[in-house]
Amino acid sequence: MSEIHDFLRDCYDSTSVKCDFICAVNDWNLTPNIKNIVSQIHPETMKRYYGCGLNTPEGIEGKRVLDIGCGSGSLVFLLSKLVGPTGSVVGVDLSPNLIAECVNREDYHRSRWGYDKKNTEFFVGNAENMSQLKDQSFDVIVSNGVFCLIPDKSKSFAEAYRLMKDGGELYLNDIYAETPAPAELRDDLKFWDWAVTGSQLPDELLSSAKDVGFSPPYLTSVGPIDVSDSFKTLLPGRRYLCAGNRMFRLGSGSDRGPASVTYKGNIKNHESEFKWDVNLTFKTGEAVTVDGALAAILANTRYRDSFDLQDTSGPAETRRCQNPFAYLDQLSSQGKRPRCIFTVGVYL
Ligand SMILES: C[S@@+](CC[C@H](N)C(=O)[O-])C[C@H]1O[C@@H](n2cnc3c(N)ncnc32)[C@H](O)[C@@H]1O
Repeated sequence: MSEIHDFLRDCYDSTSVKCDFICAVNDWNLTPNIKNIVSQIHPETMKRYYGCGLNTPEGIEGKRVLDIGCGSGSLVFLLSKLVGPTGSVVGVDLSPNLIAECVNREDYHRSRWGYDKKNTEFFVGNAENMSQLKDQSFDVIVSNGVFCLIPDKSKSFAEAYRLMKDGGELYLNDIYAETPAPAELRDDLKFWDWAVTGSQLPDELLSSAKDVGFSPPYLTSVGPIDVSDSFKTLLPGRRYLCAGNRMFRLGSGSDRGPASVTYKGNIKNHESEFKWDVNLTFKTGEAVTVDGALAAILANTRYRDSFDLQDTSGPAETRRCQNPFAYLDQLSSQGKRPRCIFTVGVYL
């Protein structure tokens, strides 16, 4: 553990008693079903929600899910409802106090969801080395507002890849910066707490994913972050935002060419359409031609039973806007900018 880890552990340990910082829930992105589940999560858990957008992977009933940097457990308890009694969710966090909060609320959520046995488990641990967890033991891994705090991100991406089964999905909601952190601020630990130092640039996410073997990420959401007046002078013109990205671990032999794909409408709570990313929403029964990269994902992951695929050589839907800052600018110019998730450098 480095000085940065110790500092962050102490900051987050103190949030279990202090609670003086608020993150907005990204409700503009959530379905009515998810909003209903969030409304049933214990208020003391949600009071300590410090995420940058709840990430809710579809079609996870019966699956085993890991939340890296679970904090007070908001996302773990939400996902523990979505995976149902036959699935399970594991939460790992650096802060012993927040893990204790999670353990204290397990029985409340077990009973709230109507399960005989709890389907959650929590560990104190470091995302850079989760040696207590076995190779290829998770179908889906999520993380919300955490990779931006990790000093050695290559180790955490490698750990996520190691823990993921072939065909598994890494769904990251995180903070990104548009430009590198000013060198003179890098040694000041308080800037780590605000993710000023540790936020990746969007291109760094693409290379981090590629370097360990994940598919290129698909951008699923953006949420604005403001910078307080006092921080603006230290960070002139520097922009941050929250973005959701999904990427996959595909086994060997998964490559394939473009395909005409038709969504079958069989994912629970997504019967009429399935929003893949900010560029593409599959409508039930409507064929779309996708490029080989996306066809390979749809054919080799848990989504394989949700699509009919026919090989094609026709013009394909290819990846479009992937830069979250460009996408946020596009939304803003259309008058659709979502509300701010939080303000860097402000304590409420
Ligand atoms: C911004 S909070 C987000 C918490 C939670 N995901 C949520 O949405 O409420 C960041 C969390 O990451 C944890 N964390 C920071 N660095 C970590 C690391 N290296 N390994 C595991 N957890 C870490 C902190 O203790 C804290 O709970």
